[in-house]
Amino acid sequence: MSGGWQIHEHGSVSSTQDILKDMANKGAAEGNVVVAAEQTVGRGRHGRSWESQPGNLYLSLLLRPNCRAAQLGQISILAGLAVYQALGELVKDPKDLMLKWPNDVLLGGRKCAGILIETSLKSDVVEWVAVGIGVNINSAPENGVFLNGYTKREVSAESCRSFLLSYMGMHYLQWKTSGAFQGVRIAWMSGAHAKGEPVSVKIDKDLLEGDFHGIDEQGSLLLQTQGGEIKTITAGDVYL
Ligand code: BTN
Repeated sequence: MSGGWQIHEHGSVSSTQDILKDMANKGAAEGNVVVAAEQTVGRGRHGRSWESQPGNLYLSLLLRPNCRAAQLGQISILAGLAVYQALGELVKDPKDLMLKWPNDVLLGGRKCAGILIETSLKSDVVEWVAVGIGVNINSAPENGVFLNGYTKREVSAESCRSFLLSYMGMHYLQWKTSGAFQGVRIAWMSGAHAKGEPVSVKIDKDLLEGDFHGIDEQGSLLLQTQGGEIKTITAGDVYL
């Protein structure tokens, strides 16, 4: 990764995650990036599918952070911040952008980009991380939104990719070499919805209600329940 990103461009693939994970299992170095023009079986978080017609950005990047499983939440937050900042370079009004835990990027209140993190662990040590990123550039599903509806001039998937890899590379290298997460946490919080905002969190079949209380040092969500208790949540879907 210190040698930069090695980009592998494809036309139509099942999922960039599948190709990258295969490369990772065969020993590929971190910094490899698989990009596709379209995906036939694009995957989202929690087993959902990700609509992947041509014209949008689909990529997966390989990291070998050499960290503990407990730090994976930090990588997830860091990736969301990189996407948020990349889109901030391209939209007419960056105030239209918002981060939603763990790493969704909303534009005008609707989802524009999503991130899927898949990993391989050896006991408690992270062997590799496949960070899959999808950005709606020219089209979006019904409940989503696409970038080109919010830009000054038409943006290509390639220019979005280049900003994204540049922010991702910068944050990741800083984090890996220093181990510090506090700067990323603060930057993420300033791009997220306000503290105290009521949110619901779906964890499997349960729905927890409370107020957003920020994220902690591991990137976990802090939810203040009605009784005032602060709950730490490591996985789930947030609804605003
Ligand atoms: C989410 O549910 O919000 C995560 C969506 C992640 C989609 C990207 S597109 C590139 C990579 N390949 C996939 O199959 N999924 C991720």
